[in-house]
Amino acid sequence: MNNDAEAIEAIRKRLGSRLRILGHHYQADEVIRHVDLRGDSLALARKTRDVDAEHIVFCGVYFMAESSALLARPNQMVHLPEPSAECSMALMSPGPLLRAVLDILGGKGRRIVPLAYVNSTLEVKAVVGEYGGAVCTSANARTMLRWALDRGDAVLFLPDKNLGHNTANQLGIPEDQRHVLSLKGKGENIDREKAERAKLLLWPGFCSIHTRFVMRQIERVRQEHPGVLVAVHPECTPDVVDAADAAGSTSFLIDYVAKAKPGSVIAIGTEINLVERLAEARKGDVEVLPLVESACTHMAQTTEEKLRACLEAVEAGRTDYLVNVPEALKAPATESLERMLAACA
Ligand code: 13P
Ligand code: SF4
Repeated sequence: MNNDAEAIEAIRKRLGSRLRILGHHYQADEVIRHVDLRGDSLALARKTRDVDAEHIVFCGVYFMAESSALLARPNQMVHLPEPSAECSMALMSPGPLLRAVLDILGGKGRRIVPLAYVNSTLEVKAVVGEYGGAVCTSANARTMLRWALDRGDAVLFLPDKNLGHNTANQLGIPEDQRHVLSLKGKGENIDREKAERAKLLLWPGFCSIHTRFVMRQIERVRQEHPGVLVAVHPECTPDVVDAADAAGSTSFLIDYVAKAKPGSVIAIGTEINLVERLAEARKGDVEVLPLVESACTHMAQTTEEKLRACLEAVEAGRTDYLVNVPEALKAPATESLERMLAACA
């Protein structure tokens, strides 16, 4: 173990049950090896509820730590080792623009239910809560889209149009009942006629890590490895998801590889840290390949060195890495998360 690793383990030992480290599957090995609980976004949100520790250190990106802070108890503190680790997709839907768009879309009395992918800012979750909507993750998007469709005249899904389309495909919502909004300016370019006809309105956001997976990679891997299975994350574009043998959250992909028959070859379309970990886990009996190597630079901002610095601050009683939830946003943002947890209990 290097110096940072040793220091981290020593602090974990000293703080004992006062500290729990949570980490997302896309974290690098040097970080994930120090984590008490790892999971996908849904599992991590749920696990926060079971953690008793006074300090939760969250290894992931900002929106994940914010969700954890929203669900934490009043006496718990959530810390993020790299406070500037943002998810670029989450930043594609600013809260004030969402509010303006919802007011435009609901202008004629149409009830629009916002459904925000958990990869969104706290402000967005608060607007969603205020307008009667909920949050979803890639693991429960189908259940939550059904939930939202049952509650209004139309649903505004944000920010990931690809997850929106892929989930709509699963539910059999025809393409002519969907409309991707044009959001140049402050919503004044929205095609109101098309928006009024649509049952599913999609925000034009996307994940630049998952949109790197394209059809020609699937064609190539199928040529090079006849019989290969292709499994991708639903943030990939709909053509890629349709061409794959399976699609699902990071936990789904882990399970898919764990259950694969010995001798199979699986090409995975998701973040490279997870793909490499899966390849290592089945080394010798299943061949796991990346469709192409695609790394999330935001997730990579959390390093072992930064985790050590964060833990040193926590142990010293400093709040340098504390995730703050502004009081005014807390109730409506928590409500949007609670609606998801209640609908998917
Ligand atoms: P999961 O919820 O499937 O872990 O995905 C989170 C994410 O950010 C994928 O890019
Ligand atoms: Fe955000 Fe994409 Fe990174 Fe996931 S992989 S955290 S959606 S930028």
